[in-house]
Amino acid sequence: MEFMLDTANITEIKKYGAFLPLAGVTTNPSIIKKEGEMNFFKHMQEIRSLIGKERSLHIQVVAQDYEGMMEDARAILENVDQDVFVKIPTTPEGLEAMKELKKQGVNVTATAIYTKFQAYLAIAAGADYIAPYFNRMENLNIDPREAISEMAAEIARTNSSTKILAASFKNVAQVNAACECGAQSATMGVDIIAAGTTLTSVQNAVDTFTTDWESVYGRGKRISDLCIYQWN
Ligand code: G3P
Repeated sequence: MEFMLDTANITEIKKYGAFLPLAGVTTNPSIIKKEGEMNFFKHMQEIRSLIGKERSLHIQVVAQDYEGMMEDARAILENVDQDVFVKIPTTPEGLEAMKELKKQGVNVTATAIYTKFQAYLAIAAGADYIAPYFNRMENLNIDPREAISEMAAEIARTNSSTKILAASFKNVAQVNAACECGAQSATMGVDIIAAGTTLTSVQNAVDTFTTDWESVYGRGKRISDLCIYQWN
């Protein structure tokens, strides 16, 4: 699975990007709000320079009408770079914008997906990624597991290259479920990554390995200290 970070926080991207097999960074206006007022394009450029061109950067339009979405998309592409995945809400106006942007060869991520029907439309419109909102669907009594499985089936049926970028997670189990139902990618906040990578049992196991080793070779001794040949 592709792991993406759903944040615009530079410190978080640096910290978690250092150890994650990071595939990309996703943002939306609510995520931008968390950072407070900023020089938007400069901040997005900074994220790009941190993650490089080999990882995807997804930036959302704010306008709700077709013309406005197209203008937002152009502004993003011109002021950040042409490789950005422009995130477009999957509304009627958004679908119109997606079709036009795909005609122009722009990378598109269809977002705010709560239903299978929205997903099927976005796949047909040629979106590169579709972003179903896992937790928000659950809150509406829509089964995200069934929906994501059917989205994956539709992609297979239509031999489409669209990828499912599951989003809106409140816990690690939801991420696992999205992956197991066929999502190729998932974007999540660092709270989810932290919860999934800092289990007490894991740390206890690692501590025991250290204690056992040091009981034989001495405190602070490492394997590298035993080398006959020293690297430096
Ligand atoms: O990427 C979409 C995601 O940010 C929505 O998440 O937590 O606001 O439901 P949430």
